[in-house]
Amino acid sequence: MAELTAVVHGAAEVATATGELGGDDPAGLRSDAAVAIVDGAVAAVGPTEEVTREYSPENAAYAVDASGRAVIPGYVDSHTHACFAGDRSDEFEAKLRGTTYGELLAGGGGIHRTVRATRAASDDELLGNLLDHLDVMVAHGTTTVEVKSGYGLDTETELRMLDAIDRADDRHPVDVVPTFMGAHAVPREADEPEGRYGEGDPVNADDYVERVVDEQIPAVVDQGVAEFCDVFCDEGAFTVEQSRRVLRAGAERGLTPKVHAEELAHRGGAKLAAEVGAASADHLLHATDEDVAALVDADVTPVLLPGTAFGLGADYADGRGMVDAGAPVAVATDFNPNCHSQSMGFASALACVEMGLTPAEALVACTRNGARALDRPDLGVVREGAPADLAVLDAPSHVHVPYSYGVNRVATVLKEGRPVVG
Ligand code: NIG
Ligand code: FE
Repeated sequence: MAELTAVVHGAAEVATATGELGGDDPAGLRSDAAVAIVDGAVAAVGPTEEVTREYSPENAAYAVDASGRAVIPGYVDSHTHACFAGDRSDEFEAKLRGTTYGELLAGGGGIHRTVRATRAASDDELLGNLLDHLDVMVAHGTTTVEVKSGYGLDTETELRMLDAIDRADDRHPVDVVPTFMGAHAVPREADEPEGRYGEGDPVNADDYVERVVDEQIPAVVDQGVAEFCDVFCDEGAFTVEQSRRVLRAGAERGLTPKVHAEELAHRGGAKLAAEVGAASADHLLHATDEDVAALVDADVTPVLLPGTAFGLGADYADGRGMVDAGAPVAVATDFNPNCHSQSMGFASALACVEMGLTPAEALVACTRNGARALDRPDLGVVREGAPADLAVLDAPSHVHVPYSYGVNRVATVLKEGRPVVG
């Protein structure tokens, strides 16, 4: 028999995130509204009086009084590197003193440092760290998150990371979407076991790409956890040719491409994402109008990561221009040791203040369009039939999320209709 899982009633506003991004009502707002949830899915959304007549809160397993509050879809954080070990807070200080991200990386810090810490961590430590980050994320309203591997750069550790990601998904109410990112950096010879590579530091990038293609991708596919394959196509990382080789090899084995593109410099990653039919092209700080047009034509979701630009002191991606060009812009945290914020609320504040999105557009970018970047069109909306992943704010409107920058306005989180926070 169907179960009336929950009724959320009396909300000042339900932001359904079903409107057009550039249109008058991107957030698809309903005022004085209720959401009825049957078997974990939205059964009705509409005026409280109408919804509660058919679905009485008294008969629900959970009745949530949202009087004077706003209800939004749970956030879909479509880009993170949340599985790692170690601490790089001192690099944050170094960056404040003027050291660049590229300099840290070239000196064996940055990603390389996290690789050393991650390789040295036990399976339990990797899982425990990730679960801790998921706790913070869900408290800030995230109900689905993508997590990448890429701090192993060898087959064994890449598989261990994906295993931790898979186990975290089983154990935590937040849904975790796994991405393989063996091509996150070219490993440094100094970090490799004796004799693995020949002479030369760093390790030859082309040789490493062959390892990713011949060794890592087949092992990852055999393991059966990863859904996407991502590449860092940028200055100091992989060229377009190397990235294409990895993404094509992954796609042939069923891994959907994603690309870190035009973050540190313009290197052609956005056009590559369009060429290979990637689910998303991410960062895009240096993307041109032509790049954006190519992404729109190829139906690739641009994922903007304003927290990273904030931390790097870099210019932000042109979010406003992309929305105006008709792109289905998504916004995500990029949570990683170089961008240590799990908060989608903070990302949406930056998307508004620094990239020119309206609060309603930022909401859609953090929910429905994040789901789009993960090929999960049923998530990130409050719509009949969709999984009831919802956040109830301690504020009367979605505008209070970016308005209250630096403050968490999420009071209650429902995952498939069941309270997991609040
Ligand atoms: O998306 N740019 C490449 N990868 C991450 C940073 C990872 C790190 O610095 O540990 C990013 O920003
Ligand atoms: Fe990233």
